[in-house]
Formats: sequence, C-alpha cells, structure tokens
Amino acid sequence: MLRDRRILLAVTGGVAAYKAVYLARRLLERGAEIEVIMTEAARRFVGEQTFAAISGRPVSTDLFGSSRVSPHTELAGWAEVIVVAPATAATMARLAAGLSEDLVTATLLASEAPVLLAPAMHTEMWQHPATQRNVERLKADGHQFIGPAEGSLAGGDEGPGRMIEPDEIVAAVEAILTGPLKGWRVLVSAGGTREPIDPVRYIGNRSSGKMGYAIASVAAARGADVLLVTSSTLPPPAGVELFRVETAEEMAAQVWNLAPGVDVAVLTAAVADFRPAKEIDSKLRRRDGVPELVLESTPDILAGVAALDDRPFLVGFAAETGSLDGARRKAMEKGVDLLVANDVSEPGSGFGTETNRVTIIRPDGASDEWPLLDKRQVADRLWDLVAQIRQS
Ligand code: CTP
Repeated sequence: MLRDRRILLAVTGGVAAYKAVYLARRLLERGAEIEVIMTEAARRFVGEQTFAAISGRPVSTDLFGSSRVSPHTELAGWAEVIVVAPATAATMARLAAGLSEDLVTATLLASEAPVLLAPAMHTEMWQHPATQRNVERLKADGHQFIGPAEGSLAGGDEGPGRMIEPDEIVAAVEAILTGPLKGWRVLVSAGGTREPIDPVRYIGNRSSGKMGYAIASVAAARGADVLLVTSSTLPPPAGVELFRVETAEEMAAQVWNLAPGVDVAVLTAAVADFRPAKEIDSKLRRRDGVPELVLESTPDILAGVAALDDRPFLVGFAAETGSLDGARRKAMEKGVDLLVANDVSEPGSGFGTETNRVTIIRPDGASDEWPLLDKRQVADRLWDLVAQIRQS
C-alpha cells in the first residue's frame, strides 16, 4: 500500500500523457497523496483540469505566477518519490544536462527524492545514441527507469518506445518506497497444462494464465527476481525470466529444478491431475472406432516443493466449484503457507476473466474473503500479505 506516501507526478509532453491520468488515479486508490506538475507541452495533450479533478489539488505548471513562493523547491522537498510519466526524450535530455528551465526540470534538479522515469517516444528517438547516452547518464546520476515497453505507438508504428502500463509503474513506485521484494527470488507457475492424447489432441483445461502472469508481473515490478514457469501462450510480463512448458511432467521438472534456492513459490498453474497413460504417436482415426483412454496420475508439483528440506514460502492455489471446503482441507494438509481459493463457477471469477474473487486460507484454517478485484489488484494484495507475513 502507499497510504499517505507523498508522490510527485511530473507529466511531460507525449501522447502517453493520457495514461498518466489513470496512473494518478491508481496511485490515489493505493492511498497515496499526489501532486501533479506538468510541462507546457504536456498541457497540449491533457488539460491540467483533468489532473486537478482526479488529485483534488491544483496542478502546478509554471515556475512563476504560482501561489507558492518557490514551487520547485517546495515540491522537491515535499516529494518522497518523483515519477516522470511519460518522460519524453526532450525532458530526459534537459535533465541529463542539468537544465532547469521549466517547473518539471527545476523541481527534479532541486530534489533529493528518488526519481522514476517512464520513457515514451518513437522507437527511433528511443534508440538514438543521444537518447541512450542521456539514459546512461541519468542512471549514473541514480535515476531509475521503468520501460519503455514494445508495442504499438502513436501513428500506427510498432516497436520499443511505448510507455509501460500504469499498473506496472505503481508497483515500481511501491518497490521504491517499501522495497519489500528487493533481493527476493520468486518462482511462479502459470497456465493450464496440456497432456497429449495423440499428435493433434490433448487434455487441457480452461486456465488462461492471467492470474499467474499478474502475480509474476507485480513481483518483478516490485524488484524481485522472477522465474515464471508457464504453459500459457500469453506474451510474457516485463522483467521476468520465462520457462515455457506444456505438460505436467515438464512443469514438474522445471519447477522442481528451480524451487531449491527461491524465497517464495506461488503455484497458480492449473496442472492436469491425470494424463493418458500412453501417448499415441500417430493421429487416432475415426474409422478405427472410439478409442478407450486409460489415464494415469501426473506428479503433484506442489507436494514436491512442500517436501523440500529448505522449502520456500509456499503459496498454493485452488480452483473449486461451489463450496470452498475442499480448499480449506488443502490449506491444512498440503504444507503451504497460504492457499488462494476461488470458486471458478462464480461470474467474474476464475478462468480467462480479468477479475477474481478469492478467499485466502491459512494452514490453521483462518480465512479472509477478498472482494471482486482485478487480477492485478489480487496480485498486489497478495504480495503485500506475503511481505507482511515474511517480515513479521
Ligand atoms: N498442483 C500441482 N500439481 C498437480 C496438481 C495441482 O502442483 N498435479 C497445484 C496447483 O498448482 C495448485 C494446488 O496444487 O497450487 C492445488 O491444485 P488443485 O488441483 O486444486 O489440487 P488437487 O490436490 O489436485 O485437488 P483436487 O482434489 O481438487 O483435484
């Protein structure tokens, strides 16, 4: 959480300024106090009135003519962290050169607070040696960067230069201010496994991998080293080390190989419990009649991690339909530190959705029901909780 943390949001002139509005909102929702400053160019993209309405405070845009005596030094001293989003090539160049000709650069120069820059510009501008030189210089000055991401850019171009999504910026701010996951090595499993019947068919399930990806993404943005073992084909979140697998057997081998030596393992994957006992190497033909499938058990990956001598802090997931009694039993019997249970038959919860309503169950059976949240918000809360338990 960012309760009462003082965050200065500096918006500079790029199309991505519209995303800074959502960023301001998300920071406020996390309990932060925010002040917004803008460059003249930023005001051409988004009006200061929008930010003022969201933050509930007037927005400063000028070194002169403000109600404050010395706006840049007052804001510089007030801020616990300064987020520049979007950070344009021009602002980065001014900052790297130590110029202080507008309120944003003057405030940055006057502040000792950590600075997080979220660059946004066209690929050519980002890759230009001058910009890269400025980035290196700013890093050497102690400034931190998040992004840019790859993706579609204004004007229909594609490539690196897109501002990273606001939720990832929020998590990075949290990492700077609270830093609970810095130095943590985290393992996340995600997706539903596929167990081959023949070369074209498999037994699978409806898991999309979105919950696990949100958990991996938030952990990475908060500063953890994240290993993501996944059978999902979603594009990987920024900053994680990816291990693609398909079957329960492959996932087990990868997870068991990586688990010794991690601090926390969050196993969200919907692993098949059964697989065809024998894989048929050529396609089953209709004319050969209805095949009889004999199934066998897959390895219990979670049990293998729980049995490690020096096991990591272990979070299991349980997708249930209807009552959560089965999940309560799993929380007590599976050797986990936390179990995240959800009823996948409930609307808005579970497989493929953007949201989830989960119940957190402790090994002693104590449980806490969380409201319907975005998967990303569930991930935020989960990491808050894991950090709190591990630090107590
Ligand atoms: N899991 C696992 N290996 C398996 C099956 C499940 O590691 N072969 C993990 C999941 O990633 C999840 C937890 O175990 O974190 C609970 O999964 P679930 O399928 O609900 O547990 P089961 O013991 O298979 O229970 P059920 O009787 O409901 O199938």
